[in-house]
Amino acid sequence: MQSKPYKVATMKRRSLPAAAAALTAAIVFFLSTGALPAASAIVEHTFVVSQVKMKHLCKETLVTVVNGQLPGPAIEVTEGDSVAVHVINKSPYNITIHWHGVKQWLNCWADGVPMITQLPILPNHNFTYRLNITGQEGTLWWHAHVAFLRATLHGAFIIRPRHGASSYPFPKPHREIPIIIGEWWELDLAQVGWNMAHGFLFYFASASTINGKLGDLFNCSGVAEDGYVLDVEPGETYLLRVINAALFSEYYLKIAGHKFTVVAADANYVTPYTTDVLAIAPGETVDALVVADAPPGRYYMVAKPNQAPLPDTQTPEYTTRGMVQYSNSNSHGAMQRSSRGAEEEGDGGPSGDVPVAPEMPDTHDTITSFYFHGNLTSLRHQRSSLVPVQVDERLFLVLGLGSICRKGQSCKRGDTNETILLATMNNVSFQLPAMTTPLLEAHYYHTNGMGTLQELPNRPPRAFNFTDPALIPYGPKEERLEPTSRATMVRRFRHGAAVEVVFQSTGILQGDSNPMHLHGHDMFLLAQGLGNYDASKDVARYNLVNPLVKNTVVVPNLGWATVRFVANNPGVWFMHCHYEFHLSMGMAAVFIVEDGPTVDKSLPPPPANFLTCGHDDNLVPDELYLQTKKSGVSWINGV
Ligand code: C2O
Repeated sequence: MQSKPYKVATMKRRSLPAAAAALTAAIVFFLSTGALPAASAIVEHTFVVSQVKMKHLCKETLVTVVNGQLPGPAIEVTEGDSVAVHVINKSPYNITIHWHGVKQWLNCWADGVPMITQLPILPNHNFTYRLNITGQEGTLWWHAHVAFLRATLHGAFIIRPRHGASSYPFPKPHREIPIIIGEWWELDLAQVGWNMAHGFLFYFASASTINGKLGDLFNCSGVAEDGYVLDVEPGETYLLRVINAALFSEYYLKIAGHKFTVVAADANYVTPYTTDVLAIAPGETVDALVVADAPPGRYYMVAKPNQAPLPDTQTPEYTTRGMVQYSNSNSHGAMQRSSRGAEEEGDGGPSGDVPVAPEMPDTHDTITSFYFHGNLTSLRHQRSSLVPVQVDERLFLVLGLGSICRKGQSCKRGDTNETILLATMNNVSFQLPAMTTPLLEAHYYHTNGMGTLQELPNRPPRAFNFTDPALIPYGPKEERLEPTSRATMVRRFRHGAAVEVVFQSTGILQGDSNPMHLHGHDMFLLAQGLGNYDASKDVARYNLVNPLVKNTVVVPNLGWATVRFVANNPGVWFMHCHYEFHLSMGMAAVFIVEDGPTVDKSLPPPPANFLTCGHDDNLVPDELYLQTKKSGVSWINGV
């Protein structure tokens, strides 16, 4: 046997003697490539979820965080590693943690969706997640999968190649920097989540953040908030691992005087793409190289949200900024304390103490995002898998808003208090099953409760001009189209089925985009377009050669996107919009992937430590719901 190099780890790591299979695979790989693989390791973390006070904008707010940090701790692993995260819930809320984008191969039990894959971790309870990181590298993230609490419970999840940074399919960067775009909320997020799910809308963040810092566009009694500062050495290359952890908005990111070369998206390598602006929707990640090749000085890094223009309801949104600061610039120290005096780009570079500000796209510019996403293609790489050419199952999912009567069968429709606004796919809004056993467990043990599910319709109840802007404001025209039902919508797929989904955004009551996220699988993004999808001309535009591979696909405002994926990971997988208000209003469904013919294509039994209703003395089904009601948390729209 080869002697294995033992990797020194920054986090607590130990060798993994039991992972014989992984090791064999690693050695086979080693022999076939001649490169030196790192030994598989177990990366362990302890996540203590608790409430801490943080002060911004002159106000102390109680926030729920992991290990007292916002953003939470980054998990850094090497492809092939195992991860154990011990979650200790010291918060008053039911919690689960989802590993966003981690494929969880044959490991749906650890996917972290309350009542879909597991019981939530109750206050003063613990749970250990065990993950295997195979066949993926790049930037992912983790977040609580509890309505709205993910605003403060999130962090980066970085997977490095097994053969080290020199095996990146791009020049090796000098440093790698997570850039997490988020929001600062002064509201009780658990309460907001509950209210949103019950038709009481309109809650907004108070600020936006880069790596948890509000930046100098915000102040407390005239004193600017701290901003994130990236110190750079001239000539060096930085790999920014950008994550949008915000609940509500897609963001544009720019650094004055610098260009990005995008090299990966959602932990899949892309053909290097050079641009001065990144577009990133909630749930997405973008890896981009930045070379510090500008004259010495200080340059603002600005994150600005976009939103659909009028007649869409306009919501308060905030631009935030940090700074890129050259080591040889003459003005070190704190970030510029005033937003005035910043030079706009193109004025001939930095002068003296004034940082350069980039020119940002307009708030209502959504087309820059459309082109950004449309310009990316995947890079041929040893891991790339082929796009399925034959399709077994087709879904046409129309994404919109709709309403149900608050009480009873009939009510005054339109913009009245008698209806609850919901978000839908094909006019059905998702609600959690009325059972105390999570769906995955019920599915695995063939429990009866599975009978109360409803099949996700393959197409909308009727075709109409989906993207007619006249549908956006409340009025008689769309009232006919939006009445909605609520159900636990699932769609079953035979193991190995090649599935094509056309997502169609609509103008029903809003003209938003929809970042659609699928758990447990990556999707090939074959094409996107504006207006209504038209198979007779749009199929010809499908990229079957090098389409982008994503876990979160942005379906453009008043447009569509076609994806394909192979349903080959058995389990019960959530699929939903990653805008929190859409998710908490029910824009979600569950994809059930059946077992394959052999053991290695079937979901293994739940892990030994799994939280089970009947078997955990501390857990009584009633308490589960009581706890939920008491704390005011709804996981999604069903309580
Ligand atoms: Cu990042 Cu189901 O979510």
